Amino acid sequence: MIKTAILGYGTIGSGAAEVLEVNKEVIKQRVGEEISLAYILDRKDLSGDPRAGLVTTDFDKILNDDEVKIVIETMGGTGAAYTFVKAALEAGKSVATSNKALVAKYGTELMEIAREKNVSFLFEASVGGGIPIIRPLYDALGGDEIEEISGIMNGTTNFILTKMAKEGSDFDEVLKEAQSLGFAEADPTDDVEGYDAGRKISILTSIVSGKQVNFEGVHMEGITGITAEDMKYALVLDRAIKLVATSKKTDKGYYAIVSPVMLSDSHPLYPVNGVFNAIFVKGNMLGDSMFYGSGAGKLPTASAVIADVVNIAKNMGRHIPYVWSGEELALLNYEDMTRKFFVRASGDIKEREAEITSLFGDVAFVEASGLKGEFGFVTEEMTEKSFADKYEKLADKITRIRLG
Ligand code: HSE
Repeated sequence: MIKTAILGYGTIGSGAAEVLEVNKEVIKQRVGEEISLAYILDRKDLSGDPRAGLVTTDFDKILNDDEVKIVIETMGGTGAAYTFVKAALEAGKSVATSNKALVAKYGTELMEIAREKNVSFLFEASVGGGIPIIRPLYDALGGDEIEEISGIMNGTTNFILTKMAKEGSDFDEVLKEAQSLGFAEADPTDDVEGYDAGRKISILTSIVSGKQVNFEGVHMEGITGITAEDMKYALVLDRAIKLVATSKKTDKGYYAIVSPVMLSDSHPLYPVNGVFNAIFVKGNMLGDSMFYGSGAGKLPTASAVIADVVNIAKNMGRHIPYVWSGEELALLNYEDMTRKFFVRASGDIKEREAEITSLFGDVAFVEASGLKGEFGFVTEEMTEKSFADKYEKLADKITRIRLG
C-alpha cells in the first residue's frame, strides 16, 4: 500500500480524495498496489465529513510519517504551499500539485530538489485542468520540436466571452452573473486580466523550450475592455473573440503573449465555448493537433492530479524527469510579432477613408448593424510595433483587437 496526504481540502483537494475513493480498484489494478489517503491537512472544521478522521492541522505529522510517499498539494498560492511542498520533497516524498502559481514561480527550484532526492514533482493539473497536456508534451510529443502552442486556457473568461457573444450583454453584467453561478472568483483579477493564462503559457513554454520562463515577462492583456459592440463586429466578420495564450518558436527564440483575439471561423479554437479549454499544438513532425476538454472544475482537475499520483506510484524509487533547466529564457519582444488588426473608430467611413488608408495602407472596412456614428476596419498584416505607432496617430479611435 502507498500512503498519500492531501494538503488543502477545498474543491480540488476533496475532488482528489473522491477520485482515489471512487476509482480505488482501477487505480490498484494499474499501479499493482493500493493507494490510500492517510492524512488531510486543513484548518476547516470538517466534522460531519466522512473523511473527518484523516484531518490534521499539523504538517509535521505528515512530514515525519515515512509511510507517506506521495503528497498531493491542492492548497493554492505560493506561501504555505511552497514551504510544505519544498519540505516534502526534501524529506524524500514525491509531490503532485494542481497549483500553477507555485509551478510558475518556484517550479525550477522544486524540480531540482525532486531530482536531487530521486523523487518526482508533477503538475499536470496546473494547465488545462483535466486536459492532458503536460505529459503529452514531455512524452507523447517527445520526438517533436514544438513550434507553436495556442490555447484557450482560462474557463472563466471563455465562459464570459461566450455569454457576451450569445446574449449581446456587456462584460460587467456577465461577470456578475458568472460570479453568482460560481464560475468566476469573488476577486476575478487573475482570470480577467489574463494572469492565469499567462502563468499557464509560461509553464508550457518552459516545457517546450527546456528553460525557465518568468511569467512576468509574458505580455498579458485581459478581457475587461471587450464590449457588446465588439461582439457585433465579430459576428459580421464571422469571427469569435477569445482570450488566447500563445507561445511561438522562431529562428530567433520564443514569443509568448496573452490577449483577446478575434479568431476566424476556420481557426481550431473558434468553436471552443463556455468553460471548456482547448490547447492547439503544432509540432515540426506532428503538424497540428488539439487537446480539448474540461479546463477547470472539481473532478476534471482532481482527475489530472490523481493521474500524476498514479504515474508517481508506478515509478516509485525513480525520478520522473519532467524538468526544465534553471537557465532563464529571455522571451522575444512581442512587438516584433506580425498579424492583422481590427480597429473601431468614430465617424463615417466615406469621410475618413482617405485618412485611414493613408495611415494604415489597404484596409477592409466593416459596419455593424445598429451601431451608428462609428465603423470598423481590418488592417493588412503588420508588426505589433508598426500597428501601435499607426494606432497612436489615429484620431477618434474606439478600440483595437488582434486578429487570429
Ligand atoms: N480560474 C481558472 C479558470 C481555473 O477559470 O480556468 C483553472 O485553472
